[in-house]
Amino acid sequence: MPIDIHRDTATQRADYTIDQNWDAYTAEEHAVWATLFKRQVRLLKDRVVPVFLDHVDGLAMAGDGIPDFRRLNDILHKATGWTVVAVPGLVPDATFFEQLANRRFPSTCFIRTPEELDYLEEPDTFHDVFGHVPLLLDPMFADYMQEYGKGGLKADGQGALKRLARLYWYTVEFGLTRTPDGLRIYGAGIASSAGETVFALEDRSPNRVAFDLDRVMRTDYRIDDYQETYFVIPGFRSLMKATEADFTPIYARLDELPDIPSDAVTDGDHVLNFGTGKYHRERQRKTA
Ligand code: PHE
Ligand code: FE
Repeated sequence: MPIDIHRDTATQRADYTIDQNWDAYTAEEHAVWATLFKRQVRLLKDRVVPVFLDHVDGLAMAGDGIPDFRRLNDILHKATGWTVVAVPGLVPDATFFEQLANRRFPSTCFIRTPEELDYLEEPDTFHDVFGHVPLLLDPMFADYMQEYGKGGLKADGQGALKRLARLYWYTVEFGLTRTPDGLRIYGAGIASSAGETVFALEDRSPNRVAFDLDRVMRTDYRIDDYQETYFVIPGFRSLMKATEADFTPIYARLDELPDIPSDAVTDGDHVLNFGTGKYHRERQRKTA
């Protein structure tokens, strides 16, 4: 198979970005986006924070094909100063943080194949754009992402990347939040996955625990399957407040404490759902 221009590292610039090459998408690739988009918009209604779907509309993300980053950025940059930049795949941590600190979101531009609709091993443009970009239109969340980038650059020099990666994972990727109408999704990893959209919110298997910064930064996570524990924030403002302190003394303190397994509930937890663990137990049985 010829190499996909949307994953080609040959044209990569010093900051790892490439051109999106929007004109090079095939009809089949646009159709994959359309299928995923329609399914998620339907599933996310009453499951995602309401601003998420408002911003999908606000960004004029149409259901009919992969968005052109130039169009997207016209709207996004005017609204919150953020820009989506295309990259061929994962970028080094420091590069990723540097981009976020400058209000640039590195996004893949390749799309999964029709065989990978429900599961793929690395983020594609549906995850990155549909999952992450809508909340960059929310002023508070947009600030959080930038502060996270700055915090990453700092943590990099303090041997604390593991802590910040966990924070990102359990908020930006797999976060849940309370709303007056009940629990809602805001994490991009959930919002871009049909299976996890229902699992994270409604299944009795995973733990749902109130967000606590120390707790989250001590907790391992799964990269191979749905999460065993989700952390619930009271809202974006509260997340900002919880993360605005200087993390340096926190990192030092946490280094004295053991890590917490991804499926554990601990003494200090405010538990919203004590998970049955059934889903992961059965998965393990099948692969054993
Ligand atoms: N306050 C953190 C620090 O001092 C930075 C940060 C802000 C990290 C917001 C994540 C989110 O390192
Ligand atoms: Fe992501």
